[in-house]
Amino acid sequence: MNLFGNQKQISALEAKSNAQKIAFAPIVFQATLALRNLGILDLLMKNHSQGLQADTIATELNLPIYGVKVLLEAGLGAELVYLQDNSFYLSKTGYFIIKDKLTQVNMNFVADVCYQAMPCLEDSIVNEKPVGLERFGQWATIYEGLSQLPEKAQKSWFEFDHFYSDIAFPNVLPLVFKSNPRHIVDVGGNTGKWAKCCLEYNEQVRVTVVDLPVQLDKATALLNDAGFGGRFSTQAINLLTEGGGFPEQADVIWMSQFLDCFSDAQIASILRRACSGMGAESSLYILETFWDNQQFAASSFSLVNTSLYFTCIANGNSKMYHSNELKSCAEQAGLSLQEQTDDIGIGHTLLEYKLS
Ligand SMILES: C[S@@+](CC[C@H](N)C(=O)[O-])C[C@H]1O[C@@H](n2cnc3c(N)ncnc32)[C@H](O)[C@@H]1O
Repeated sequence: MNLFGNQKQISALEAKSNAQKIAFAPIVFQATLALRNLGILDLLMKNHSQGLQADTIATELNLPIYGVKVLLEAGLGAELVYLQDNSFYLSKTGYFIIKDKLTQVNMNFVADVCYQAMPCLEDSIVNEKPVGLERFGQWATIYEGLSQLPEKAQKSWFEFDHFYSDIAFPNVLPLVFKSNPRHIVDVGGNTGKWAKCCLEYNEQVRVTVVDLPVQLDKATALLNDAGFGGRFSTQAINLLTEGGGFPEQADVIWMSQFLDCFSDAQIASILRRACSGMGAESSLYILETFWDNQQFAASSFSLVNTSLYFTCIANGNSKMYHSNELKSCAEQAGLSLQEQTDDIGIGHTLLEYKLS
């Protein structure tokens, strides 16, 4: 299957016009944000049947007519709006910009976390370091600094992270609980959302949330507030430190949107250590979005570009993986694939492993 459209089939004219979209992409992005944030797209939505002239929009929103005109004209180029009899109308693409949650989450993440740091991409690649992260602070990875990010960047980071996993979690609970696990170890448990889902789903299960020390306060507060004190514990570990051990006697080891935070060598090392916490009956589950395993070209496109956030900002050496890359790391670690479930939530795949 060709995930990215058939490049061999397009005409030279189409190709040249695609190239112009790329040349101006950062400007188009900012124009779209301005059209959204200044309320112009919303106003066009409210007036979708009769459209609006530029001067009416300027008056209604109390904006300078010059600025409204240049934005609307850029919006024509980006196909966010269209012009009919001197009035502007919201297009279908414009509708998705203001109404579609997935688009909003992605745009806010790019605007608030990535945009100002991405000019450091070349440097990050050459030096194998997340040079763009310096814009936010002096940490080795973004995970150490998540709790200290500026408010807007932090909000957009968590919304981006949670949006995808929140949708997937309800679908995978029955799969994970089919073996009636009593102890689940949630590795990279973040704010404790998966742990909370598990504790709500099954009254007998206990959960250990494993993460960097700076993350565990949020998980502890969420789970205590939900009344689960006594049924969960936390373990602070930096898994990049060799020898950082895993909790023992896990029936299930859970890694959701976690292994994409590491290089393939680090993944193999983490999985090897995870094996030490598993018995013959234990399962290790990996929930990931693989770029080769998507139903839509737009999903694969989003994933390969999300990889560059990892390169430039998150840690400099991880990515959204091709499923075979991750499977190869798991095999190297001594795990054997039991079951693969595709098309969960928005493009997730669940892999279940047991000790080989
Ligand atoms: C992308 S978030 C995934 C959160 C959650 N599992 C989900 O599905 O939404 C990755 C998590 O891994 C944690 N993490 C990253 N590097 C780590 C490390 N070296 N040791 C332990 N945890 C780490 C981060 O703090 C973060 O909570």
